[in-house]
Amino acid sequence: KVKAAVFASGTGSNFQAIIEAESMACEIAVLVCDQPGATVIEKAEAYGVPVFSFRAKDFSSKEHYEQEIVSWLKKDGVEWIFLAGYMRICGPTLLRAFKERIVNIHPSLLPDFPGKDAIGQAFKAKADITGVTVHYIDEGIDTGPIIAQQEVPVMPGDSEETLKKRIQAVEHQLYPATINELILTK
Ligand code: GAR
Repeated sequence: KVKAAVFASGTGSNFQAIIEAESMACEIAVLVCDQPGATVIEKAEAYGVPVFSFRAKDFSSKEHYEQEIVSWLKKDGVEWIFLAGYMRICGPTLLRAFKERIVNIHPSLLPDFPGKDAIGQAFKAKADITGVTVHYIDEGIDTGPIIAQQEVPVMPGDSEETLKKRIQAVEHQLYPATINELILTK
């Protein structure tokens, strides 16, 4: 099986969905996490997935920590990177080392509501429809070429919490399915 890394900073519900999805075309060989206290690390440990965690502030620059990550991943034979709530911009070091092999999931229909708190942004804007986007990464914030999108309706009476639940349920299906399709067709 081809090896992939998941990058995450937080809860890791998408990490878990990928790990638990049936008949995945890739093995998740490592979790990369920039928040040493994040819940996703406990999840990775529970599933026996090796963890590379780091603090950006321990490095003099993004180039330095990304160089460290790239050497780890290359040594492990990792070919794909799937960002799942990784709240950092990828720099040229990572982008060049994994050209067209870094994919992200974002909880809106891009180009609408890029950046942080996309669900809150859609809720506050009183959007009727929002959704989920899976896309390649470039040097912008949530701007790379789109691979897959799925709409999610905002229901009357929704709170941000109920909307978030509906969006994340879609993420947990769409991301593993899109990852498989990508790997099998690339
Ligand atoms: C997910 O909803 C993901 O789409 C979002 O962070 C959440 C992480 O949740 N990513 C972004 O907003 C990227 N700009 P999780 O840790 O439970 O998977």
